[in-house]
Amino acid sequence: MMNIDELFNIRNKVCLITGGGRGIGLMIAKGFVSAGAKVYISSRNGDVCHQVAKELTEQGPGQCFAIAADLQKLEDIQHLVVELGKREHHLDVLINNSGANWAAPIADYPDAGFQKVVNLNLTRVFSLTQACLPLLRANPTLENPARIINIGSISGETVPKLEMYAYSASKAAVHHLTRHLAARLGSEGILVNAVAPGSFPTKMMAETLKREGDHILKTIPVGRFGQDEDLVGTCIYLTSRAGAYTTGAVIVVDGGALQSSRM
Ligand SMILES: NC(=O)c1ccc[n+]([C@@H]2O[C@H](COP(=O)([O-])OP(=O)(O)OC[C@H]3O[C@@H](n4cnc5c(N)ncnc54)[C@H](OP(=O)(O)O)[C@@H]3O)[C@@H](O)[C@H]2O)c1
Repeated sequence: MMNIDELFNIRNKVCLITGGGRGIGLMIAKGFVSAGAKVYISSRNGDVCHQVAKELTEQGPGQCFAIAADLQKLEDIQHLVVELGKREHHLDVLINNSGANWAAPIADYPDAGFQKVVNLNLTRVFSLTQACLPLLRANPTLENPARIINIGSISGETVPKLEMYAYSASKAAVHHLTRHLAARLGSEGILVNAVAPGSFPTKMMAETLKREGDHILKTIPVGRFGQDEDLVGTCIYLTSRAGAYTTGAVIVVDGGALQSSRM
């Protein structure tokens, strides 16, 4: 008989989740600590991250720690990885989740906004992945490869209604970066996948949902917004033995919104 608990076991896995202090990153961090993982969270707001880490560790059974970093900055990425390396000899799971959005009419779309979004959502996903490679390469086996999950978006798969040009382009690029990295790193025991969420009620979505929540809900075939369990389940699959033969995939978690937009 196959042991299904073992199939989805991520106990004691060392994980780094960017943007783990709120929103989708927090959903995943909570789920992973509940599953017994050792989770590091990182974002600009060190106070929030430290508070969240303390609360999650108290809840257990896993542990959570915080290392503050502004991932727009290459020097902060290096600092984050150096600090992580002082505490851990290897990294099992990197989740590139931190992200930003900017919407503006095409004529007024600011150059600085475009660069900021592309830098955080795309360039720094590559920079952090690159910086984490020595730790990701330190421990993988054929049965238990290291994992990278990039949080993309359905806006990278279809054209969104809002004028968020840098966001949709950066997410489409992250999906392709995921495929390219998967092809390059598979032989080194590192699997790379993307998760493309639909609508999850977070700070990033708050304004949009306030203005257009009712309309957006009608575009989701399953009739609800995303919940913690939807992303946690997908990420546990991708980081456990269950996902050890999946790499280069973009897994859409959106209640059917993407396909219904194509009908
Ligand atoms: N919510 C959705 O429906 C949805 C849908 C599709 C994709 N996504 C993606 O999911 C990811 C998380 O978004 P969310 O919805 O959870 O949004 P959110 O609540 O706004 O969270 C964004 C996270 O990114 C961090 N962050 C922002 N700028 C940063 C920087 N310069 N350095 C380090 N961290 C930074 C924030 O922490 P600090 O402010 O402390 O830095 C925060 O933890 C993003 O990649 C987003 O594109 C979300």
